[in-house]
Formats: sequence, structure tokens, C-alpha cells
Amino acid sequence: MKDLNELTHDRLRDHVAEELDRTRRRSAQLTDAVDDDELVRQHSPLMSPLVWDLAHVGSQEELWLVRDVGGAEAVRPDIDHLYDAFQHPRAERPQLPLLGPSEARDYIGTVRNKVFDLLERTPLEGRELVEHAFAFGMIVQHEQQHDETMLATHQLRDGPPALEAPPPRRAEDLPAEEVFVPGGPFTMGTSTEPWALDNERPAHEVHVDAFHLDAAPVTNGAYQRFIAEGGYEQPQWWSEAGWAYRNKADLRAPRFWFRDGGRWLRRRFGHVEQVPADEPVVHVSFHEAEAYAAWTGKRLPTEAEWEKAARYDPASGRSRRYPWGDADPEPEHANLGQRHLQPAPAGAYPAGEAPCGARQLIGDVWEWTASDFLPYPGFAAFPYREYSEVFFGSDHKVLRGGSFGTDRAACRGSFRNWDFPIRRQIFAGFRCARTALEG
Ligand SMILES: [Fe+2]
Repeated sequence: MKDLNELTHDRLRDHVAEELDRTRRRSAQLTDAVDDDELVRQHSPLMSPLVWDLAHVGSQEELWLVRDVGGAEAVRPDIDHLYDAFQHPRAERPQLPLLGPSEARDYIGTVRNKVFDLLERTPLEGRELVEHAFAFGMIVQHEQQHDETMLATHQLRDGPPALEAPPPRRAEDLPAEEVFVPGGPFTMGTSTEPWALDNERPAHEVHVDAFHLDAAPVTNGAYQRFIAEGGYEQPQWWSEAGWAYRNKADLRAPRFWFRDGGRWLRRRFGHVEQVPADEPVVHVSFHEAEAYAAWTGKRLPTEAEWEKAARYDPASGRSRRYPWGDADPEPEHANLGQRHLQPAPAGAYPAGEAPCGARQLIGDVWEWTASDFLPYPGFAAFPYREYSEVFFGSDHKVLRGGSFGTDRAACRGSFRNWDFPIRRQIFAGFRCARTALEG
């Protein structure tokens, strides 16, 4: 994001329009890449049919922007319930009388035209929902989040490749395996980022003890040693819940990996290839991440540790928007936005390095943290309880930093994602931490 606090309302409107367009192009690429039959099919019980995501994006845009912000008449009130994620779990969605592919495209186009009309005439002040065009930013982020979900559906889909992208840049040398983050307070969360979501707010001071953090995410090569040395067969590395899940699901390796004689192969968006040793591991559950960390004698970082490593600038004492500073992410900073369909090798993006020396905190893979998804002190649900509040508790673990599939609009140093600890189809990896004995 540009510094939206500084923009005039006209410039803010232009920015919103650009972001809406850019986001819709991505949604179109993801859904135009396959035929109608594949759009309506459920590729995995874990996911919605792609055509559901597409119309759901339009449905949320209609609810929040057309009806609430614009005060306009409903476009399709008859279909609200079909696209309410709380009413129908993903496994049920293929049985619903969903809009077909061309109906869904027409519907989201109609909604979008109304949104462009109301963007021109809506005052961007006088109501919290429209200050700094928040509701528009929320809808941009929502669609980008579904674009990442749709990318995960593509990864689960069988058949020949439908999406292509060039590989990311090669790694640079990592100066050290671990970095040190001194103990002391830092500002966690934000009260000033205009499009930050309710769960990132408010800014508050947190004390973090000194710790060491892996300079880069754990690689496939390192993870293969865990497998080879029996990590999946040794309950001592696993929590009780993790071991039960490992047994129930018969886990032996990250999702999408399989053995071919003596080597590991993986399926990635329809391509079968040798697992690259230098790339961050992806498609592991929280439980696997936690077991690996225990096997190395370390642990997963807490959410506060992760954010301090990513945002704290010891020179100024303040928390920045991103590891590299306050500037919006550019291609040299991080592997974001589906420009590449895989993580970059560990050590890439030196320009995105945090003051502590850690790299790839933003982009490449979501990183599991040890923390449950809980409200910050002073949390207030906005604009609705179902955005975050209903998910708070010990059922969900926090993930940080975004992946190669995450757009820059839906990723920043304060951004919090959450999921079940058994989840493996998301683009999640991890790095390890350990408490410093002296600091
Ligand atoms: Fe949604």
C-alpha cells in the first residue's frame, strides 16, 4: 500500500480502482485457466469448487460495498445464503444450486460496475467503514485471499498444468544460519495502517526475551534429514495431538511429496519434479513443524517473536511496516503475488532483509508460529464479529508473513493469518527459534 494516510480523496479513489482492477485480473487468470467443467467440479473435499469462490467474492462485495457503503438495492438477494461461508461448509458446496461459470462472471461484473459508480460518489469520511476507503480495502484483501485459496485448489487439482510462471530468483549466500534478536519491549500490531484488519489492532507494547531465529525458513533438504532419521516414527518429537494426527493421517512427508526409488519427488501445479533441497519446505502442518523444531532442539517462534524479528528497528526503536522498512513490497523485496509458483531458495531477497538479519519473513511460505490466535489487548471487532472474533481461541494457530501465493495487499508485517494445526494444503512452512541464554 502507498501511505494511504497521505492521499487526497481523489488519489485514494484512483488507488482503490487500481487495486480492484489488479485483483480482478488475478481472479480471472485463476478461473480462465480451466474449462467450465473444472470450475464447477470439487477438486478436493477441503476446497470449494472454483466457481463458488468466484461468486462468493462478488457476493461479499455486494453486501459490503453495494448495499452497506452504497446504500443501493440488492443485486441478487436470492443467492446470499449460497455464498455465506458460515452456512455451508466447503464439502457441501458442490451440492448447492450455485451460479454456473458464465452466470457467476456476469454477476461479479455487474457488482463491480456498481462499485465503480459508487466509488466516484461515496464520501470517504464521516463513517468508520469508509475512512481511508477501509471497506474497499477490506474487499480487495478478501478477493486476494480467495485468489490464494483458489491457487491452493489448483495445487490440489489433478491433471496437466493449467498455470505457469517463471521460477523465482536464485539464493544469495546467507551470512549466518541464525540471527539474534535482543530482549526488550517492542510495538506489536498497528493503530495506523489504514487497511489493517481488526485482529491486527491496536498497537501495543510487548516484552520479548532475547532469542535466536533461523535466518531463513527451514528447507526441503533439512526436512529430508528429519524424515531420513526417523522423525515421523519417533513420538518423542511430537505433541500428543500431533502424534495422534500423524497416525490417523499416516503422515510420512509433506503433502504432495512421494518416493521414487531413493529420491523424493513432488507434484507442483501439475508438474512432477525432484524436491529442490534449497527451497523452503511447504505443505506441512503445524504439528509437523513443531515436531521438526523439537527434533533440532529448538521450537517454533511465538507470534510476538516473529513480529519483533520482522518489524523492530533497533536504530529508531519503532516497528516498521515491513522487514525492509515502510515502503510497499517490490519484486526485489519478497516473493509475493503469484509471480512465481514456488518459494524462492532459502537466502533469496537480501533487499528484503530485516534489521536482525532474517530473510524471507515476508513472502515465499506462510510461517507457522507457536501461538494460538487470540485478540490483542483492546481488540474491537470491526466491521463484523465473523471476520476474526469467532475464530479466537486454541483451535487455530497463527501463521505469519504470507507466501508466494499471497498478494502484497493482503500481507504486511502486522498481518495475521490463522488455521487449524492439521492444515496442509495451504502454502505454509516455518522457521525455528530458541531462547537465548544470555542476551
Ligand atoms: Fe470469504
